[in-house]
Amino acid sequence: MRSVVLIGMMGAGKTVVAEALAGELAWSAVDTDHLVEQRAGMKVPQLFALKGEGEFREMESAVIASLLGELGPLVVSVGGGAVTRASNREVMRRLGTVVWLRADPATLLARVGSGEGRPLLGGSGVASAGARLKELAEQRRPLYEKLADLVIETDQLSPAEVAREIVRELALCKG
Ligand code: S3P
Repeated sequence: MRSVVLIGMMGAGKTVVAEALAGELAWSAVDTDHLVEQRAGMKVPQLFALKGEGEFREMESAVIASLLGELGPLVVSVGGGAVTRASNREVMRRLGTVVWLRADPATLLARVGSGEGRPLLGGSGVASAGARLKELAEQRRPLYEKLADLVIETDQLSPAEVAREIVRELALCKG
């Protein structure tokens, strides 16, 4: 059985939906930010601050590639920027079905607030986090679009509803 990989912007709800979906399917959920944090021995913002985004991206790619060696199926949530590297996109395709959790910038902003814990949003208040989110979402949209096998519009849905929608759309069942 192929894994399910959740992609989308910060605030799209990937991590929470992954937990809900894994619960529905009795699969395991893995979150690449958490795996990076385990490897680095520090939180993502600290890693950005001490080693820079380049080092974070290297570790993120290593963690994503390592998932090919895991016994599946898994529900994988990846950081919002994982799609920016071609090698990551290739691995995600090989892992299984890729699902884009899409949301409007206003929804993303409501979910991330001022961006605390998200180094790319700068932590300098809601207005600047909103502008940055919009900019990143526009840059990445073509990548999400091209990679996704399935797109879920999440603006009006709770994480549990998104998870159930994925189960229905992919005709997945426990196993
Ligand atoms: C990032 C998103 C974050 C995390 C890092 C970079 C991005 O993950 O990987 O701060 O480039 O969009 P979430 O999408 O889970 O917030």
